[in-house]
Amino acid sequence: MSECCGPVGAGEGAASAFGPRETSGVTSRGTFSVDMWVNGRTVRAEVPATRTLLEFLREDLGLTGTKEGCGKGECGACTVLVDGKPVNSCLMLAYQADGKRVVTIEGLERDGSLHPIQEAFVTEGAVQCGFCTPGMIMSAKALLDANLSPTKDEIRQAISGNLCRCTGYAKIIRAIEVAAARLRGPERGDDPGTTGTGAGAGAGARARAGAGAGSAGSAGSDGTGAGALGGVGDFAGPDAR
Ligand code: FES
Ligand code: FES
Repeated sequence: MSECCGPVGAGEGAASAFGPRETSGVTSRGTFSVDMWVNGRTVRAEVPATRTLLEFLREDLGLTGTKEGCGKGECGACTVLVDGKPVNSCLMLAYQADGKRVVTIEGLERDGSLHPIQEAFVTEGAVQCGFCTPGMIMSAKALLDANLSPTKDEIRQAISGNLCRCTGYAKIIRAIEVAAARLRGPERGDDPGTTGTGAGAGAGARARAGAGAGSAGSAGSDGTGAGALGGVGDFAGPDAR
């Protein structure tokens, strides 16, 4: 468990929302002061240099919807969005997220309602054990934010960094097609996922920042079920959808 502080401020808006801080970068204690937005809320903390973003999110902020699988950048269970791009949070150090906007699975719901991608995973039966689901949904979110009419190949590419041991992927791909159709709206949503040539976010956009950070211990697999789709908490913000 980190000795760093937890979130000390909450709010939304420009960088100035963080306000002045006593330290910048490395502190006299060899830690880093970081300011970031997490699911639309400002977070200020002091983190050890080796603390991964995954550890920071799960252990310091209690956002356990993000899962740790392999801990070394191979499974995608830890995928979150950093400035809109899918990132393996087990490979990114927390201090590298300083000044960035982070969205986790908990940041997708609105007023107690699931995001359309989350809904589609449920309705299409794309969740089995659920361990891969948060990361899979975050990769899908990055794709659909850039391209609401992805082809099957674009969907496959976007989730190619996310491993699922249960579903065989067909229902996951279908769920993303259905979510895309719902997000496009009724005018264009009658033929989910069968057309479209947008650029897409793609797994190629997945950041590998901080490779070599490794995993400093398991964050635990503290449940799937509701956790697979993220909790309904107060960390939601305008950047999340
Ligand atoms: S936990 Fe497997 S890629 Fe991060
Ligand atoms: S649903 Fe079990 S690993 Fe994907």
